[in-house]
Amino acid sequence: MMKLPPGSQTPALWQMLHWIANPFSYMDKCTKDYGDFFTVPLGNKLAPVIFVSNPKALEEILTKDSQEYNAPGDYNQLFEPLLGQQSLIAISGDRHRRQRQLMMPPFHGERMKAYGQLITDITEEVISHWSDGKPFSVRGSMQTISLRVILKAVFGLDEGARYQQLESLLTSMLDEISSPLSVTLLYFPKLRWDFGPMSPWGSFVNQQRQIDQLIYQEIQERRDLPDPSRTDILNLLMSARDEAGEPMTDEELHDELMTLLVAGHETTATAMTWAIYWINKLPDIRAKLLQEIDSLGENPDPSALFRLPYFNAVCSETLRIYPVGMLTFPRVVQSPVELMGYQLEPGTVLMGCIYLTHHREDIYPEPLRFNPERFLERKFSPYEYLPFGGGSRRCLGMAFAQFEMKVVLATIFSRLELTLADNRPVRPVRRGLTSASTPVRIVVTGKRLQPTGTLQTSSV
Ligand code: HEM
Repeated sequence: MMKLPPGSQTPALWQMLHWIANPFSYMDKCTKDYGDFFTVPLGNKLAPVIFVSNPKALEEILTKDSQEYNAPGDYNQLFEPLLGQQSLIAISGDRHRRQRQLMMPPFHGERMKAYGQLITDITEEVISHWSDGKPFSVRGSMQTISLRVILKAVFGLDEGARYQQLESLLTSMLDEISSPLSVTLLYFPKLRWDFGPMSPWGSFVNQQRQIDQLIYQEIQERRDLPDPSRTDILNLLMSARDEAGEPMTDEELHDELMTLLVAGHETTATAMTWAIYWINKLPDIRAKLLQEIDSLGENPDPSALFRLPYFNAVCSETLRIYPVGMLTFPRVVQSPVELMGYQLEPGTVLMGCIYLTHHREDIYPEPLRFNPERFLERKFSPYEYLPFGGGSRRCLGMAFAQFEMKVVLATIFSRLELTLADNRPVRPVRRGLTSASTPVRIVVTGKRLQPTGTLQTSSV
């Protein structure tokens, strides 16, 4: 019988509950006891999965994840209730590769940078409602910004009833699904009882139906009134044809849109919230960062912001210390392989453990210290630093998320003086299937530059 790497003997269900309630303490404990290649019972129906945080093993798995290993979409069932069966995340093989190629261009290069002004405008609008001197939790605003950015970029939706309904329904559905209780329902399909909108699962299903309806209405309207001049991603997907010349079905379009909306906004909002925390928490870092951003003048070109070395180091360190995606998607052995001294048979499931890799003492001395300098002193390999995963399923929105993060943060920090509202410790916690911070409360204490956008100076 195949020998798996070591793992805890604690009952599987108990480990699963620990993982759901406090994934960070669970991973810390496992790595302390079993190193950087261990087995956990966190797969479908509590099946064993190997967590990998050894860079050599990660390199092996992620560079060969279309050969000896693969990255099958049907192992991502956890996401299915949220995104559907036709989502990029749920499909595999050639179909997955083609769909990625189709969806990638708007999230890269010049097309991505064209969103710079839109992101600045949305940020200015949102921060114009921040009032002076009153503490508030910053996450809600970050979520509003990232959701608006993705709604406008993906759907090309502007103000209007449908846009507003989608914004509020998506926010409340994702809030509801973020609690450990709701996550338990994602892990244990048998517990998904729909007792109407007052029950947790019923409420989720109810909101999802309303969201689906809005998305299908938008698709129908675009079919009825095609406008080839539109450059948004929905138009791009609608004009694509497969090798048989067939367009995407409504269900496929719906699932891809949901994927981009869900994968693309909470993650970035979390990263920006953490960055605001660290920058305000550490005055030396803040001073250095502001000096660099200010050196670009009053309305910096987003492309120039994107290239600032210290700013880049601060954003990289933010995504290192508490990575939003704690794990990669599963990779599955296809043909017998030897890895880390173990003979692994086809069907063995492995997941890159991003958090533990980012906390290795040998790569990141004092891993719990927020220290952007480490990114200026050393270049890390893609298997030592992988906040966006790697290989055939590397995050589609990697460049876009980093770009958005920088434009939003530069807009905020060049316009406003902020301080943390209190000294309460901020910790990483589970939020749905990703991680986030406990509330980061801030206070606006003053204004810096005269904004050119819609910021209402009277509120500050
Ligand atoms: C800071 C923000 C983000 C983080 C930390 C993040 C992280 C990740 C990670 C770890 C993966 C799994 C990669 C793997 O298995 O190797 C992933 C996949 C994915 N991400 Fe992101 N992501 C972020 C933002 C975004 C944005 C803005 C979008 C879309 C606009 C997006 C869309 C996706 C999609 C579609 C996939 C699945 C790719 C596939 O299956 O081929 N993400 N992301």
